[in-house]
Amino acid sequence: MDLLRIADLEPKQLNEILSQAAAVKAAPEDTSDRLAGKHVGLFFMKPSTRTRVSTETATVDLGARPVVLGQQEVGLGKREAVEDVARVLDRYLDVLAMRVFDHADLVAVADNAEAPVINLLSDEEHPCQALADLQTIAEARPLAGTTLAYLGDGNNVCHSLMVGAAMSDMIVRIAAPPGYEPKREYLEVAQAHSDVTVTDNPVEAVQGAHVVYTDVWASMGQEEEAEARARRFYPFQVNGPLFAMADPGAIFLHCLPAHRGEEVTDDVMDHARSRVYDQAENRMHSFKGLLVYLFE
Ligand code: CP
Ligand code: NVA
Repeated sequence: MDLLRIADLEPKQLNEILSQAAAVKAAPEDTSDRLAGKHVGLFFMKPSTRTRVSTETATVDLGARPVVLGQQEVGLGKREAVEDVARVLDRYLDVLAMRVFDHADLVAVADNAEAPVINLLSDEEHPCQALADLQTIAEARPLAGTTLAYLGDGNNVCHSLMVGAAMSDMIVRIAAPPGYEPKREYLEVAQAHSDVTVTDNPVEAVQGAHVVYTDVWASMGQEEEAEARARRFYPFQVNGPLFAMADPGAIFLHCLPAHRGEEVTDDVMDHARSRVYDQAENRMHSFKGLLVYLFE
């Protein structure tokens, strides 16, 4: 089984991985040799802090050995064809987890490898982030019936979160400037599962929401657009007055890294109901949950 898109999972499988993640977090010693003898490839074509460290620590904690690779050494699609890299790595490794620019590269790897391929972020999706996001929300309240407001760019993080939340029977409201909404294909998948709406009005999205979520306005690789995007996205900034319109018990989430003062202000990042560091920690537990599930 590969996890390139969150919708590669059935809702039941997503729920089982989240249960496994919670169990592993509660009793890490129970899975300390679950992946003994396995080799987990962790390949990064872009910078990373959380994903790089959480996946490596999770791998070691499960008794497996991580093999961390960068684009400088592998030259995916440059030094060697993507398909050949996949066929070769598949001979050594039991899991190929990869962060790439072009989602099509992941598809090409998956098509040429027997080992499970896991998306560690592409231009289309960030499914491992969505696992941690849902785990963090589930620690606050039951997922079904919970309202999530996502403000900002309809990007990779938004796609996986929106679909994963809808698969978990959450109500999802996306607020994005016109032209920056999530792609229609992801919206349609999400809407087939639950009540998912898109608006250009941030207040409408946040009002009474139980979870308020945002991500950077310019993703990795979009640095040149940052200034133009900042002008378009400024009304979608999650600041104190906007967060106060959410449910009185609402939590704030951000996949991180955050650009404080842009998509989120300090008072919200550091708010008593901000869960961003628990969310970052859960990247590790949920990745363990995923690996345990894959090798059950
Ligand atoms: N949230 C996340 O994926 O962070 P990194 O880019 O630091 O891995
Ligand atoms: N949307 C961001 C997420 C970083 C974790 C990016 O792709 O850069």
